[in-house]
Amino acid sequence: MHGGNADRRLHALLRHLEGANPTDSGDRSVSFAPTSGYSGASVFDHVVRAPEDPILGVTVAYNKDPSPVKLNLGVGAYRTEEGKPLVLNVVRKAEQILVNDRSRVKEYLPITGLSEFNKLSAKLILGAESPAIQENRVTTVQCLSGTGSLRVGAEFLAQHYHQHTIYIPQPTWGNHPKIFNLAGLSVKTYRYYDPATRGLNFQGLLEDLGSAPTGAIVLLHACAHNPTGVDPTPDQWENIRRLMRSKALLPFFDSAYQGFASGNLDADAQPIRMFVKDGGECLVAQSYAKNMGLYGERVGALSIVCRNADVASRVESQLKLVIRPMFSNPPIHGASIVATILKDRNMFREWTIELKAMADRIIHMRKLLFDALRSRGTPGDWSHIVKQIGMFTYTGLDSKQVAFMTKEYHIYMTSDGRISMAGLSSRTVPHLADAIHAAVTQATV
Ligand code: LMR
Repeated sequence: MHGGNADRRLHALLRHLEGANPTDSGDRSVSFAPTSGYSGASVFDHVVRAPEDPILGVTVAYNKDPSPVKLNLGVGAYRTEEGKPLVLNVVRKAEQILVNDRSRVKEYLPITGLSEFNKLSAKLILGAESPAIQENRVTTVQCLSGTGSLRVGAEFLAQHYHQHTIYIPQPTWGNHPKIFNLAGLSVKTYRYYDPATRGLNFQGLLEDLGSAPTGAIVLLHACAHNPTGVDPTPDQWENIRRLMRSKALLPFFDSAYQGFASGNLDADAQPIRMFVKDGGECLVAQSYAKNMGLYGERVGALSIVCRNADVASRVESQLKLVIRPMFSNPPIHGASIVATILKDRNMFREWTIELKAMADRIIHMRKLLFDALRSRGTPGDWSHIVKQIGMFTYTGLDSKQVAFMTKEYHIYMTSDGRISMAGLSSRTVPHLADAIHAAVTQATV
C-alpha cells in the first residue's frame, strides 16, 4: 500500500529540512518549532506607520487623556445634556418589536439590501409623492451608511459614466476626496467657504462650477454642510441648479443630516427635491447615523434617479455587480430598525419628535456658546456660531489655537477648528468658552 515514491518524497523533504536547519539534532520526530526560517526580518518591515484619521483619530487621543475635564468635540456624534451617547426611544421600541418577532430570521439579504427599507428611504428623501418614484425611475440600494453609499456610487460612476472628474466643495468632509480617489475618479475642488465672512463664497462657487467641463460630477452636501455649517439659501440653490443643468453637470448629493439641520425632514431635503423635480438625473447618498442615532449600525442607501424606468433597472443590475465583490450584501439589523420606524405612522411621528429635540438642543448650544463668548468679551465676531447650521461650527480657530485648547483645557476637536456642537452641554459650554477666550487672547503653542 505504501508506495516507495511516497517514502522517497518524505526522505527528500527531511533531507531538505536538515539542510535548511544547521542546528538540527538529527532527531527525526520532525518538529516545526521556530527554525531559522522564521528569525529574519518581517515581510512587512517596509510598512510605515500611517497617521491617525483626522476625525476619528481625535477620539483615539481623547480616550488616552486621563483628565476629568476632557471634552470630545471632534467626531460628529450626538451627546445628551449629560454628555452621554443617545439611543432614541423609538429605536429601542423598534428593536423590541424585531426581537419579539419569532418569524424573523438572519438569512442573507439580497445584494441590493432590504427592499422595504430601500423603498421607504427613497420616499423619505425624495418625498412620498415624488413623481420620479411613481414613474419607477429611481433605483435604491442599501449600503453601509453614508460612506458606503458614496463609495458604491463612485465605483458605479467610474465604471459607467463618461466623465471621471468630480468637483467637491472646498472645504469638505475629510473622507470625501479619499472615497472618490480610491474609486478611480479624479477629484477637483470648487470654492465654497469664505473665511472672511465665515459664510458661503457664492460667487466663487458659481465661477468654479461654471468653468467645470460639461458633464462633470459635482458633490453637493444636501444640508448642514460638514465641516462649515454653511448652506446655500433656497434662492442660491435654485441658481446652482440652473447652472448645473445648463452645463449637464451631474449632481451627487451627500445627505448625512436630513432632519438634523432644521429639525424638519422635508425642509432639509428641499435642495435634492428641487433637482429631482426638473426631471434630470442625480445620485443621493443617505445616512441614518445621525438622524436616527444608528452610527454603529452602518445603515444607509444610495439612490440613483434616472431618466426612465428602463435605465433605472439596468443601472440597478450594474450596482449589484459593484456591491457583490465589495461586501456581498448589506447587514440586516439596522435596515430593519429603520424600516420598522418609517412604515409605522406613530413610530415615524415619535421619531420626528426625538429628531427635532436633538436639532433644537444643538441650536440651543449655539446660543449658549455665543452668549458665553460675548459675556467674556472674547475678541472677534462670533455671530457665525448662531448663523451656521447642523452639527458643526467652523469656528475660525487655527491649528495652533486648537493645539493650545487641547493641551491646556483638554478639549479635543479637529485641527481645522471645527467643533461638534452636539458634543456640548450647558455644563461644558463655560469650559469651552474659557478655552476659546484663552486661545484667542494668548495661544502661543
Ligand atoms: C464627522 O464628520 O465627524 C462624521 O461624519 C463622522 C465621520 O465618520 O467622520
